[in-house]
Amino acid sequence: MSKVTWRGGALIAPVPPAMITCGTMEASNIITVAWTGILATVPPKTYISVRPRRHSYSIIKEQGEFVINLTTEALTHAADFCGMYTGAKIDKFTACNLTKEDVPGFSCPMIAEAPLSLACRVTEVVPMGSHDMFIADVVSVHVDETLLDADGRLCLERAGLAAFAHGEYFALGRSLGKFGFSAVKKKKHRRQSDPAANKPQATVDPTTDAVDNKHPADGLPTPVTADTHTAPTPSERPPRSDRKPRRPKKDKPAAGRSKDTAKKKKPKRT
Ligand SMILES: Cc1cc2nc3c(=O)[nH]c(=O)nc-3n(C[C@H](O)[C@H](O)[C@H](O)COP(=O)(O)O)c2cc1C
Repeated sequence: MSKVTWRGGALIAPVPPAMITCGTMEASNIITVAWTGILATVPPKTYISVRPRRHSYSIIKEQGEFVINLTTEALTHAADFCGMYTGAKIDKFTACNLTKEDVPGFSCPMIAEAPLSLACRVTEVVPMGSHDMFIADVVSVHVDETLLDADGRLCLERAGLAAFAHGEYFALGRSLGKFGFSAVKKKKHRRQSDPAANKPQATVDPTTDAVDNKHPADGLPTPVTADTHTAPTPSERPPRSDRKPRRPKKDKPAAGRSKDTAKKKKPKRT
């Protein structure tokens, strides 16, 4: 791939065109923000970056709270509108025909039509240049119950979320695979008569972790082939004498295991 080089610019894409609610139930406002994301999983920390001249800026700074409402395809027109007009002059809830919904323990409302709303409390305001970064704790998450399956797992893929990339809105397309799909080992081909051959392969289930408020990556064993950039380099590895002693080599497979199911040697990291 041959690349041209430009000076630094804010060109990460896609990002969420999030609708941020602030103010009170009586005097509320919505500002669309693309500069947002997750800072930490535990405790759940987020940020929004807002220009100080925005009407919402002083509201959020004074009140110390806001709600991140995720935008769907159906909400994209409203998201763009809330990013074009200032709440200093119009009531964006009324103009966009959106419904205010109470957030327990918060003064500002969430958007009832949004499938997922994260109620956030500001912990720090960090000047960044053009924008100030509001770092906040995600205090509560409010999910449209129609997005939960029979086991209470969140099926966010059903929400029809929108993305923003290089000045344009997009609907999320087809799934390319679940989290960790690259690390799931393929089972060796077995004979049809082998009952184990029909068992489903072990897969990573990120939705379970999401319901538990955990990032799917937390607590999982390091995949053999993934995340090689965090693997210790040879110079970082402890000297051989500090490592666990090697187990003696066994010629035969372990008792009770067939040759097929005996533990396979992990491939070496690259
Ligand atoms: C897709 C989109 C993304 C935006 N992202 C940001 C942002 O990250 N930070 C910001 O300060 N303004 C952002 N804006 C601009 C504000 O949403 C816009 O100035 C808005 O009218 C401010 O509303 P307010 O004056 O009621 O606060 C964005 C606008 C759009 C349409």
